[in-house]
Amino acid sequence: MASHIVLLTGASGEIGQSLVEALSERGVAIIATDIRPLPPSVARRCTEVLQGSITDPALHEVLEQRRFHQVFHLAAILSSQAERNPEEAHHVNVEGTLRLLQTAHRVAKRQGEPITFLFPSSIAVYGLPNLEAKRRAGRVREEEYLTPMTIYGANKLYCELLGLYYARFYRRLASEPEAGWLDFRALRFPGLLSALTVPTGGTSDYAPEMLHAAAQGKPYRCFVRPDTRIPFMAMPDAIRALLLLAEAPQASVQRHVYNVTSFSATAEEIAAETRQLFPSAQITFEPDPLRQAIVDTWPEEIDDTAAQHDWGWFPEYSRERTFREYLALNISRRYQGALP
Ligand code: SER
Repeated sequence: MASHIVLLTGASGEIGQSLVEALSERGVAIIATDIRPLPPSVARRCTEVLQGSITDPALHEVLEQRRFHQVFHLAAILSSQAERNPEEAHHVNVEGTLRLLQTAHRVAKRQGEPITFLFPSSIAVYGLPNLEAKRRAGRVREEEYLTPMTIYGANKLYCELLGLYYARFYRRLASEPEAGWLDFRALRFPGLLSALTVPTGGTSDYAPEMLHAAAQGKPYRCFVRPDTRIPFMAMPDAIRALLLLAEAPQASVQRHVYNVTSFSATAEEIAAETRQLFPSAQITFEPDPLRQAIVDTWPEEIDDTAAQHDWGWFPEYSRERTFREYLALNISRRYQGALP
């Protein structure tokens, strides 16, 4: 694995930090980029760290000189933050992705071999028209309800298609059948729960924020109604899903985008699990109309049978294991023994 080189954007974000850890433990060389500095514990695991925006041509000039075999393009502005500045979100989420597809293609061409391009997408690509439809929809499949209400959801949906388009376009252009093309693969994640980091600017953030506030003995005002139900996944499963898809043989990858999920829960159920871990947790509900409207359009459950069938996906962390094992053990460590 020593000669395997990965380019990872958004390395100081939620998924990024955990993915750097997992890849470095496998002996993979990592070129990491982020607009923010990386925490030293993350930077230490990377071969090279480049600080800069994914939209910055100067960063791409440097990346074009590098060798890499796989890209994990995690850099993005999440859903709630994107609503505050949709043009900026489009610039980063769409133009940044387009630039990176072009850069990766140039590198693939120079190296004379395909590059696998992993793109994390989201349940935000779905848009259920109203609460009744959300409750009736059941497990939503990849091709259903693709009418997102947020700019972030629209950006992700478009970039899934952009990746697919470029993968085909570059393949047609390649003079030799296997030379210089991109093998584009996208995953639609549910809300993620990490014991180590709290996301910034997302709309599923109420769940991790609630937990991390309780772990620190801080009160938390949840910005959605108690009955709000969406799918979730523990961070170790999210990392496993990315790595499984990245490593799946080409012949088994039958589509360009896959749902993955673990368990669905209401905000009240997340609060109840949090109180089990931290009996003194102070959680109140004060829905924010904009953020509530966003999650009300996201499915209660998504159907990940295609991922199960094509590349053997299954979640290792049920709701029970996520809270009682992964979060209980690691959040207590993170805040140095805050558990009772
Ligand atoms: N969890 C993200 C958000 O809330 C969606 O991918 O924006």
